[in-house]
Amino acid sequence: MVTKTLRRAISFYSTIQAHDGHWPGDYGGPMFLLPGLVITLSVTGVLNAVLSEEHKKEMCRYIYNHQNQDGGWGLHIEGPSTMFGTVLSYVTLRLLGEGANDGQGAIERGRTWILSHGSATAITSWGKMWLSVLGAFEWSGNNPLPPEIWLLPYLLPVHPGFKEGNIACCGICPYKGINSCGGKRSVKQYKLCENASEYLFFDTGHLSEKAYQQFAEQMWSGTLNVTGPYNLKELFELLCNYVIV
Ligand SMILES: *[C@@H]1O[C@H](CO)[C@@H](O)[C@H](O)[C@H]1NC(C)=O
Ligand SMILES: *[C@@H]1O[C@H](CO)[C@@H](O)[C@H](O)[C@H]1NC(C)=O
Repeated sequence: MVTKTLRRAISFYSTIQAHDGHWPGDYGGPMFLLPGLVITLSVTGVLNAVLSEEHKKEMCRYIYNHQNQDGGWGLHIEGPSTMFGTVLSYVTLRLLGEGANDGQGAIERGRTWILSHGSATAITSWGKMWLSVLGAFEWSGNNPLPPEIWLLPYLLPVHPGFKEGNIACCGICPYKGINSCGGKRSVKQYKLCENASEYLFFDTGHLSEKAYQQFAEQMWSGTLNVTGPYNLKELFELLCNYVIV
C-alpha cells in the first residue's frame, strides 16, 4: 500500500519536473505579476527570444480563462473587475500578439469595460508605473511618493522609525541589492551592517526583525483603523467566550 502510494507520488512529481531538472513553483492567482514580466520583456526587446509561441499561447489562455463575465479582470483570479486588473490583462494580451478583435470578442469586451469605467487613466499607481514603462502613459501622470519623508528628523512620529529605508542591512552592491548575505550563494561577497534594528530591510527579500515585530504587534493588538474588523487578540477572546458559553 505504502509502496504503491510512494510510486504514484514519484510518478506525479516526475511529470511536473522542468527539463533542466528543477521543479518550478506555481504562482497562479494574482493577475498583476505576469503583466510586469511581459511588459519588461517587451520594452527590452526580448519577448520573442524568451517566450516560445507555446508559452505565449498558454499565457493568453490563462488570461482569457480568468476574464470576468462583465468583460473585465480582477486583481486576482476570483476578484471583481478592477481598472488595474483589466488594463494590465488587456495590455498583456495585446503584447503577446492578440489583435484588437481576437479572443472571439473577449478583447473587445475588455476594451469596452475599460472605456466605460473611466479609461486607463483611472488605473492605480502601480498600473500607471507599468504603463509608463511601456511608453503608453506619461511619467508626469504618476503620483510621486515623496522620498523626503525618510529625511525628516528621526524623532517625528510620522517617521517609520527606521534610520535606513532604502539600503538593506546585508548583501552586496548599491542598496545591498544582491542577495549574497552569508556568502552561501553564487556571489560570496557580502557586507553586514552594524545594527539591523536601524534597517527596514534585512536583505533584498526580507524585512528586519524589528519591522516584522511591528507587523506582528499590529496583527495581534493593532487598533481598528490598522487591523480590522478584529485583531487576533480580540478574535481569540471572542472564540474563548464562544467556547465557554
Ligand atoms: C540599534 O538600533 C536601535 C534602534 O535605533 C537602538 O535602539 C539600539 O540601541 C541599537 N543597538 C546598538 C547595539 O547600538
Ligand atoms: C488609529 O487610531 C488610534 C486611536 O484609536 C490613533 O491613535 C492612531 O493615530 C490612528 N492611526 C491612523 C493611521 O489613523
